[in-house]
Amino acid sequence: MIDYQIAPSILSADFARLGEEVDNVLAAGADIVHFDVMDNHYVPNLTIGPVVCEALRKHGVEAPIDVHLMVKPVDRIIPDFASAGASYITFHPEASEHVDRSLSLIRDSGCRSGLVFNPATSLSYLDHVLDKVDMILLMSVNPGFGGQTFIPATLDKLRTARSIIDASGFDIRLEVDGGVKVDNIAKIAAAGADTFVSGSGIFGCTQAGDPNRYDSILRQMRDRLESANSV
Ligand code: DX5
Ligand code: ZN
Repeated sequence: MIDYQIAPSILSADFARLGEEVDNVLAAGADIVHFDVMDNHYVPNLTIGPVVCEALRKHGVEAPIDVHLMVKPVDRIIPDFASAGASYITFHPEASEHVDRSLSLIRDSGCRSGLVFNPATSLSYLDHVLDKVDMILLMSVNPGFGGQTFIPATLDKLRTARSIIDASGFDIRLEVDGGVKVDNIAKIAAAGADTFVSGSGIFGCTQAGDPNRYDSILRQMRDRLESANSV
């Protein structure tokens, strides 16, 4: 059985009640908290930094926090996120002058490391650093905003990334981010992904104010993943 993990992106959560939102989505069965960091430079949007990550830890969040850096440069902020309680730190190779150094810095800070690939970015960035990567994240939208539509060409890229991982023998997670919903999650899993970021697909569901409102959406995603697993 593949260990599928669902990682709600808090970008689509209600930021005024963030701790509660994270508690509710984890209670509903989410595995990982996906934490989108945007700098209005590498991507045209501005979000949250290490103080918010630290606040979630102080609030009592124990689940892995998956920090997706959409910032340039990356190295200055890595130790800050490590101290703030990040579990994974992933970054876009185009945003680092020295990809190998940034990956090592993440692991040396005590976190798991990852590289993020935009839809048009080649997987060849992996060629010489596969032994330093714990997570490969394929963007299935262009980064910067939640609520965009899944780009279908990601499925082929996932199959390629899956063969690279399997051939390497390394323990590397394959994550997908952007436009993941109940309706397409099984197809994405069948293409080789094992970790699924979903923002609007989870937090966008209705019934605001109901603490159990994420149960049904998470259950539907799990059911679809189970069916993908048994094919
Ligand atoms: C986009 C972010 C995503 C985003 C996903 O740049 O990296 O994590 O929040 O949101 P949805 O699931 O709504 O596409
Ligand atoms: Zn993300």
